[in-house]
Amino acid sequence: MKLVSLFAVAVSALESQAITSRQDSINYNAAPPNLSTLANASLYDTWRPKAHVLPAYGPTGDPCMHYTDPATGLFHVGYLHEGASGATTDDLITYADLNPNSEPFIRAGGLNDPLFVFDGSVIEQGINGTPTLLYTSVSYLPIQWTVRYVKGSETQSIAIATDGGRNFTKLAHGPVIPSPPFAVNVTGFRDPFVFQNAQFDHMLDRSEGAWYTMISGGVHDQGPSFFLYRQYNRDPDFQNWEYLGQWWHEEANSTWTEGGWAGRWGFNFEVGNLFALDRDGYNPEGELFATLGGEWSYAPIVPQVSDNRDMIWAAGTQQLVEGQLKFEPTMAGKLDWGRSAYAAAGKHLPASSKASQKSGSPDRFITYLWLTGNLYGTLDFPTLQQNWTGSLLLPRELSVGYMNVVDNALSREKGSWRIATENGNGTLTLATLQQQVAREPLSAFRENATNVITQAGGRLSSRGPFQQSPQSKHYMLSASITFFTRSNNASRAGFSILSGPNEHTDIYYQLSNESIIIERTNTSAAASTTPGIDVRNEAGKLRLFDVPRRNGSEASVETLDLTIVVDGGIVEVHANDRFAISTWAWSWYEDSRDVGFIVEGGEVEFGDVTVWEGLVDAWPQRSA
Ligand SMILES: *[C@@H]1O[C@H](CO)[C@@H](O)[C@H](O)[C@H]1NC(C)=O
Ligand SMILES: *[C@@H]1O[C@H](CO)[C@@H](O)[C@H](O)[C@H]1NC(C)=O
Ligand SMILES: *[C@@H]1O[C@H](CO)[C@@H](O)[C@H](O)[C@H]1NC(C)=O
Ligand SMILES: *[C@@H]1O[C@H](CO)[C@@H](O)[C@H](O)[C@H]1NC(C)=O
Ligand SMILES: *[C@@H]1O[C@H](CO)[C@@H](O)[C@H](O)[C@H]1NC(C)=O
Ligand SMILES: *[C@@H]1O[C@H](CO)[C@@H](O)[C@H](O)[C@H]1NC(C)=O
Ligand SMILES: *[C@@H]1O[C@H](CO)[C@@H](O)[C@H](O)[C@H]1NC(C)=O
Ligand SMILES: *[C@@H]1O[C@H](CO)[C@@H](O)[C@H](O)[C@H]1NC(C)=O
Ligand SMILES: *[C@@H]1O[C@H](CO)[C@@H](O)[C@H](O)[C@H]1NC(C)=O
Ligand SMILES: *[C@@H]1O[C@H](CO)[C@@H](O)[C@H](O)[C@H]1NC(C)=O
Ligand SMILES: *[C@@H]1O[C@H](CO)[C@@H](O)[C@H](O)[C@H]1NC(C)=O
Ligand SMILES: *[C@@H]1O[C@H](CO)[C@@H](O)[C@H](O)[C@H]1NC(C)=O
Repeated sequence: MKLVSLFAVAVSALESQAITSRQDSINYNAAPPNLSTLANASLYDTWRPKAHVLPAYGPTGDPCMHYTDPATGLFHVGYLHEGASGATTDDLITYADLNPNSEPFIRAGGLNDPLFVFDGSVIEQGINGTPTLLYTSVSYLPIQWTVRYVKGSETQSIAIATDGGRNFTKLAHGPVIPSPPFAVNVTGFRDPFVFQNAQFDHMLDRSEGAWYTMISGGVHDQGPSFFLYRQYNRDPDFQNWEYLGQWWHEEANSTWTEGGWAGRWGFNFEVGNLFALDRDGYNPEGELFATLGGEWSYAPIVPQVSDNRDMIWAAGTQQLVEGQLKFEPTMAGKLDWGRSAYAAAGKHLPASSKASQKSGSPDRFITYLWLTGNLYGTLDFPTLQQNWTGSLLLPRELSVGYMNVVDNALSREKGSWRIATENGNGTLTLATLQQQVAREPLSAFRENATNVITQAGGRLSSRGPFQQSPQSKHYMLSASITFFTRSNNASRAGFSILSGPNEHTDIYYQLSNESIIIERTNTSAAASTTPGIDVRNEAGKLRLFDVPRRNGSEASVETLDLTIVVDGGIVEVHANDRFAISTWAWSWYEDSRDVGFIVEGGEVEFGDVTVWEGLVDAWPQRSA
């Protein structure tokens, strides 16, 4: 992200002059005009999500700075916005802005951060037991892996929460990490992610309970890296951080596998998170995971903005090499395949938090991704007309997932999984990153549905409509699809959504290249009248393994389980608890609401489909 902040500043300057006139006169039953010519804020409601986290208006940048306040048990969700802003939640379903109009809790403009506040993370009980933020303070530009690094451009500074986190007050001293490691020619040095972990303590020198921070970046001509630091001597003021080396380094523009399961590591890491998981969720003794952004494309428009970034996860092991901890991945994949989905920021959500107590949940690791609304500022989207840009995606719970599959070439390929056990009976147990929409919003979407549609499935071999379609563009759909054979390369199956006489968006699984595709060619009539309405297709790779049948006969192709959330312009597609692809579908016509079956190239079996309509209003206090 980052450079979004540059755009944010440009937009904020405009915002102060903007005249708001929310027009009601737009006709969604007729062809759209050139939307860039409409009045400011006239498209505010057109694609606005109900159930997602985003500010009241203006741009949303990277999620970051989340924490559970030990004093209240409330979870604070943050995101970059005129600095950084945020909200609290006691259930991960509804949110309350920390400040009126989503005003920020920290702004750039101090001695350490004259230009920008970039991502940071929070030590819940830091200085004097108060939530303490370590963030990237920005003083010079340009910053990008393609250009020479400006010395002093990114430093790491501290601010502490006052007034329940409505304000983070900067301390009157310089950055606590004032420069990248000595004489390392970095490509970037930002987004400090703080954590405690006994596995690190034990492998290093048993300084138990120390805080660590991982800083994302890379080294010119060498490749992307995570730089590891540790709170020096358990300093209670977090003034001194000891450099412990490059915890993880990959060769420039390399990849976990050319098979395309995990994107590219790129030239520079951004937004790195580090945590440990087991099958129930967060467990400091569990398997080590990282999420990170890999930057690898050259800039199409402005020299400092990449439009091509990969949102990657990796798991692995670490060992001591000449006194330094070094990480080696054992598997890697994409956290989300949407080209606009990026900058995931997660945090340990303890069982003691209000949300987890209410839902009876164990310790979890919850992550929020960003869905950029204008492709990192490279699209000329009608931003003033919409009045807001971008959103966070629904919170996700991460854990280690296991699957029992047939032992064959498919399961033995190097992919976004690893072999956990060889069972000796013709099956393997695979491990992978399990990711699901957080349980609270998932059940709220069901329980609070204003309309529930059940559509019978069955064996189908051609497209067909639903008997009843949703009345709105806010719903969750769940369905399963079984392919009888994988040898039929022509086979595709899924759903057309936001569909009507003029527009439709197709979501389907395609066997030939094991992809879930969101076909947007006909998503929006506005694409032909208005710049910045991106209708390129989205695609991600999901392998459906061969799974043993319960009765011991021949194996079958794993069933595809889909959960599709449509919330205004946002479409999130989640599959088999291990795949996600999210994007924008800027459908124009009021009657583009139908849902239908898609089947091509042979018969498949659909399970019964349920559509829960309505979702929830995540911001009850804003509408009040
Ligand atoms: C959005 O609307 C608010 C008031 O509703 C106004 O203050 C602000 O300037 C507008 N911002 C943009 C980016 O249009
Ligand atoms: C919309 O906002 C822009 C930027 O503030 C301003 O220049 C323009 O005059 C506004 N347009 C209308 C029709 O109010
Ligand atoms: C937070 O409080 C400090 C000290 O009163 C003030 O200087 C700063 O502007 C406040 N920050 C925000 C974002 O309001
Ligand atoms: C850092 O790397 C850049 C890009 O390769 C190079 O132009 C520059 O000379 C290097 N700087 C130093 C101090 O080595
Ligand atoms: C990185 O590698 C990919 C795949 O080989 C290639 O398409 C891309 O151009 C490379 N990027 C750069 C900047 O060389
Ligand atoms: C193979 O062994 C695994 C692990 O013991 C077991 O879970 C699975 O049910 C067995 N599968 C078959 C087909 O026997
Ligand atoms: C299916 O298509 C893929 C990709 O084009 C190809 O590699 C594979 O051999 C095809 N499989 C069959 C059974 O035709
Ligand atoms: C879909 O879009 C294509 C290209 O814009 C167009 O040629 C075609 O007619 C559209 N199809 C439908 C069914 O609207
Ligand atoms: C729509 O309006 C914008 C702003 O006036 C202009 O730049 C663009 O060329 C127009 N697009 C079309 C297709 O007319
Ligand atoms: C699979 O093939 C389709 C074209 O049929 C393409 O659009 C898509 O990008 C491919 N999937 C991946 C993951 O590249
Ligand atoms: C096993 O179950 C499948 C359906 O799940 C059925 O087609 C097959 O005939 C069964 N095999 C035996 C040996 O019962
Ligand atoms: C869910 O529905 C209940 C009962 O109608 C209502 O009290 C509650 O506010 C709703 N929750 C949300 C998040 O909309």
